[in-house]
Amino acid sequence: MSAVTFFSSVQEQLLLVEERIREQAGQEHHPDLRSALEHLLAAGGKRIRPTVCLLVGNMLGAPEEKLITLCASVEILHTATLVHDDLIDGALLRRGLPTLNTRWSPAATVLTGDFLFARAAKLSAETDYLPLMKLFAETLSIIVNGELTQMFSARGVIDRGNYYQRIHAKTASLFEMTTLASTMVATEAESTRRSMKEFGYEIGMAFQIVDDILDFTGEEHTLGKPIGSDLLNGMVTLPAIYYAESHPTDPDIISLPTGSWMNTESMSRLVENIRSSDSIEKSFDEAAGHVTRALGKLENFEDCPEREALENLSRYIVERKL
Ligand code: IPE
Ligand code: IPE
Ligand code: MG
Ligand code: MG
Repeated sequence: MSAVTFFSSVQEQLLLVEERIREQAGQEHHPDLRSALEHLLAAGGKRIRPTVCLLVGNMLGAPEEKLITLCASVEILHTATLVHDDLIDGALLRRGLPTLNTRWSPAATVLTGDFLFARAAKLSAETDYLPLMKLFAETLSIIVNGELTQMFSARGVIDRGNYYQRIHAKTASLFEMTTLASTMVATEAESTRRSMKEFGYEIGMAFQIVDDILDFTGEEHTLGKPIGSDLLNGMVTLPAIYYAESHPTDPDIISLPTGSWMNTESMSRLVENIRSSDSIEKSFDEAAGHVTRALGKLENFEDCPEREALENLSRYIVERKL
């Protein structure tokens, strides 16, 4: 299945979202900030969150203007988290281009991320709907708390519960916000809101698990970002957890919690071993389980082109190579 099957139905609306996103670079700001924003906002990305936002909103009959604003807000919030994430991870490449932190000081990079957060908040306020503002603020707290937890108490930790909590916080929470927010501007029906939030949760968990798999199996030039870097940052993700469970006596696993993730040689060996083990397939199966549950959440909705596109998008999440 190609991504075209679900992107195409919202192509024109996505152009409106792009326009709204670019407007945020503004003319009235410092020229260096403006050029950084233009660079960041033009670099693209898959735009998967705005696509989900549009499909859900269209399916439920949300007013278009609010929906476009919401999509722009969500994508800018996402971009802001990437700016900070790349600084924290020391990543040099994003969306096929050098990251801001390769060119700017940490201080300037942090402030540019902050500026993007502010623009996202402003857009979310433009929907003129207080509950949405609250949802936006709550989600941002969850993401930031997740990144902090990851930084202070997750490095070298081999623990499923810890892993699920982290990926919920850093990724699934934003997908939940996206699907819930586009439902909120369409309907007050509690059960619809709940189903769509759960749909967002399931595709978000699947999305991050696949991102973590691609860190082992992907190609840098396709992904447009560095691979093999999670373990080197001390991030023990699902493929490594499965591997640890079936190879408890591997010395590279045993020494992980004591800081061997800082040892490049040991980590290259471990990445290679994980890559050629069945941990990758087990992780895919787990992501596929989330997708199956996501499809289940859509069953209560009437059959329509948007629902079909959401089904295709859900399946694409486990098939994607970028
Ligand atoms: C990257 O998200 C960060 C994660 C949550 C895994 P995407 O893979 O959606 O990044 P872009 O927007 O396409 O660059
Ligand atoms: C990032 O997760 C999620 C954020 C909230 C920024 P990752 O660290 O796995 O994302 P990539 O792999 O750098 O895109
Ligand atoms: Mg990262
Ligand atoms: Mg990643």
